Amino acid sequence: MSGDRQLDVVVFGASGFAGRLVAGYLAGHGSGGVRIGLAGRSQRRLADVRAGLGAVASAWPLLVADSADPVSLAALAQAARVVVSTVGPYRAHGLALVQACAEAGTDYADLTGEVLFIRDSIDRCHDAAAAAGARIVHCCGFDSVPSDLGVLLLYQAARADDAGDLQDTTLVVTALRGGVSGGTLASMMGQQEEVRANAQRRRVVSDPYALSPDRAAEPDLGDERDPGWARYDGELRMWTGPFAMAGINTRVVRRSNALQGWAYGRRFRYREVTGFGASPAAPLLAATVSAALKAAGAGLAFGPSRAMLSPLLPAPGQGPGEKTRRTGYFRIQIHTRTSAGVRYLATIEARGDPGYAATSVMLGETALCLALDRNQLPDRAGVLTPATAMGAALAARLRSAGHTLATRQITQLLR
Ligand SMILES: NC(=O)c1ccc[n+]([C@@H]2O[C@H](COP(=O)([O-])OP(=O)(O)OC[C@H]3O[C@@H](n4cnc5c(N)ncnc54)[C@H](OP(=O)(O)O)[C@@H]3O)[C@@H](O)[C@H]2O)c1
Repeated sequence: MSGDRQLDVVVFGASGFAGRLVAGYLAGHGSGGVRIGLAGRSQRRLADVRAGLGAVASAWPLLVADSADPVSLAALAQAARVVVSTVGPYRAHGLALVQACAEAGTDYADLTGEVLFIRDSIDRCHDAAAAAGARIVHCCGFDSVPSDLGVLLLYQAARADDAGDLQDTTLVVTALRGGVSGGTLASMMGQQEEVRANAQRRRVVSDPYALSPDRAAEPDLGDERDPGWARYDGELRMWTGPFAMAGINTRVVRRSNALQGWAYGRRFRYREVTGFGASPAAPLLAATVSAALKAAGAGLAFGPSRAMLSPLLPAPGQGPGEKTRRTGYFRIQIHTRTSAGVRYLATIEARGDPGYAATSVMLGETALCLALDRNQLPDRAGVLTPATAMGAALAARLRSAGHTLATRQITQLLR
């Protein structure tokens, strides 16, 4: 990658809800030497965003580019060492920029949670990015950084102890509070529409190994579907229900395993659930939340009910307010058992709304990590994952930013 670019980091989509937060994070935390620019389709909206960032950003260049204009995207990719994009839905707006970055040898990161978009990105851009030395890193927000780095840290802990391969591994969301933006809803509905209309795309989304670099080489470990309903988990000793982000996170974690030559193990079975504890109220809570999640998914997928719901939902550009972002949080545990029978627990936690406050830290630190920590990053290029592109370097940055990412060996599962 060229070091003679005009800028180190450009935020494309800086006038959107998530983009403004990422730009704000970089204004507050980018070290003095980082050259940052803001990009989007409207010079005026970008100027408004920049004006709100204070004196530190007053000289940041503004770059006008439109996702439908490949010439403007090529110029954007050539202008910076790292482009972070919050222009979504990515399936509609994202692929041309990934292609431009792959061809220019420019590192790229985004916030997508759209499996179909990432599959297309892999199929169309991986080889070009690998040849040009570009790191293309999708899912650099709440989905899927905690999952992907958490499992990587468990693998590194087990390897350091010579404790064997990872086998049954379960992520449990034990606490979560936050909101949702119009852009996220539009992205979810866009993928749902495509899946409803096309049986082949439906099969891709439901494949646990949808993002594999080599589908035929993946192990056959039986039923690996994402849990859909409430159930008591005897091993975790708690009631569990589905986790809304499992459909993307599990595919990203399995891709990380495959990109590392199945280093976690060939019998690595991974799932994600929401934990409801073991109190007398837990079964009802688990059943109610699971049913509500199904109903919300169905309501948004079905045209007429979606039309009824839409006046109540945030529009693109809107999202959770300052108080919701400040008072939100997430707490995640990841339990694993190795082939040698040793158990480990990872704890991943952060304050701030997971999808917006914590996510702007994750994407902001990703941008800084790709731009500033190059000599600490794994020697890989292509369409990667947070764990395989940045791994320990990103984990260290997030800890410095106040996030908890810790592992420990345990003799028995926690109650
Ligand atoms: N993984 C996570 O944890 C996470 C968290 C938050 C968001 N997200 C994802 O991030 C994406 C953005 O969400 P959001 O809430 O910020 O959405 P948003 O507020 O609607 O912002 C979308 C941005 O895209 C820009 N845009 C739209 N069409 C464009 C085009 N043709 N060319 C250039 N720019 C264009 C918009 O520019 P204008 O201002 O000019 O309209 C705006 O800046 C969504 O896909 C969402 O799912 C993921």
